[in-house]
Formats: sequence, C-alpha cells, structure tokens
Amino acid sequence: MRVLEEMGLAPVWVLRRKKTPPVSAKDAETGGSREEQVARMGWPELKAAVSGCTACGLRAGCTQTVFGVGDEAADWLLVGEAPGAEEDRLGEPFVGQAGKLLDNMLAALGLARGRNVYIANVLKCRPPGNRNPEPGEVAQCAPHLLRQIELIQPKLILAMGRFAVQTLLNTDATIGSLRGKVHAYHGVPLVVTYHPAYLLRNLPDKAKAWADLVFARKTIAGS
Ligand code: URA
Repeated sequence: MRVLEEMGLAPVWVLRRKKTPPVSAKDAETGGSREEQVARMGWPELKAAVSGCTACGLRAGCTQTVFGVGDEAADWLLVGEAPGAEEDRLGEPFVGQAGKLLDNMLAALGLARGRNVYIANVLKCRPPGNRNPEPGEVAQCAPHLLRQIELIQPKLILAMGRFAVQTLLNTDATIGSLRGKVHAYHGVPLVVTYHPAYLLRNLPDKAKAWADLVFARKTIAGS
C-alpha cells in the first residue's frame, strides 16, 4: 500500500473499510425515540435530520446548520465546539481564521479536510453571539455527533478546545491535565488538544498543539 501511495496510485485503488449500511428515510421515521431513530440513520437521513432539527432553540437564531465536512471514511475525526459567525454564514466548520490555522496544521501532517480527515462540531447550530453552549443544547445535539462517529468509524477523535474536550470526556479537568494520553469516546480512542482559536491568541502553545497532533498520528499508526 505504501508503495502504491508513493507511486501516487493509492487513492485510485484503496478499498475503504466497510461502513454501517444506511437505512431508508421511512425506516428512520418509524418507532423509537429521536435518539433511537438518529442511531439508525445513514448519511442522507442524518444530514436531513440535522438541517431540519428544531430540538433546541438555537436553530431559530442561526442562519443554517453546520453538519460537518470531509472524508466520510476518515481515520481522523476532529471535533470542535460550535459554528462561529463565518461557519454560520458558509455552512462549513472551521472556515474562519481558526480554521486556516487548523488547515495549516493538518497540511504539516500531510493531511487535509476531505483527505482522511472529517471535521465536525459538538453543536451544529451557532449559539447567539458565540456564547457558550448550554447543557440542554448539547444533550439535544449529541445524538447527531454520535451517529457521525458511528458512520465514519474513525481510528481517532481529536477533541479541540476545552468545551469539546470536557463535553466528550464528561469531565471538568483541564486540557493541560488531559494532554498526552489516549482517552475514549464510545469506544473510539480520543486525544485532546487546544482549540485553534485559542492558539491564535496564545502562540507559544502552538508547539504543544503540534506535539498533540504528532501524538495523535502515532496513536493512529499503532492502532
Ligand atoms: N470554532 C469551533 O469550535 N468550530 C467551528 O466550526 C469554528 C470555530
């Protein structure tokens, strides 16, 4: 495989891992709680469910939902907090200044959004004025991210920033105390790092974030 990659042939030849088969929209509509229905959805139904979701109050105040972007069979799943103003306008996660930094860091690893990387947020709707998400909003939106994880079957989740880290790991611990270890979210290995927006304000911590990415790459390589 490595030989093929070096010859530039791999993308043509690679057979992706088997993914959870999608269920029909009709099937998704019948029976069970919202969580149970979401848990059976394939990509088309999940995307439709997110864009039509009014389970919390956020949808009323945002321009559009921001589902996620990238390779739907990626090894890497990057998870941030919630869309900001630019993401709300464009419908894609991490497209503002923080997103540019994230893209540069991915490029340094030989990765890109859409190439073995999927990027999503805990919340799919922008909180007004970029306020912190509320627990009820997280609870309503959590099944969407969980289903994304089940469909992608990533080898690793990279949780970026205090909010995503503390939400996914259900802890109040600091990022500093959680770095450099492999945690888990629903059975998927999870590594924590700083949020790119934080790194823009705290440039010296970029070296730590780079170390986190290298640690994540090593974790994937050993899985
Ligand atoms: N911050 C996030 O956590 N997610 C985005 O998509 C953009 C900024």
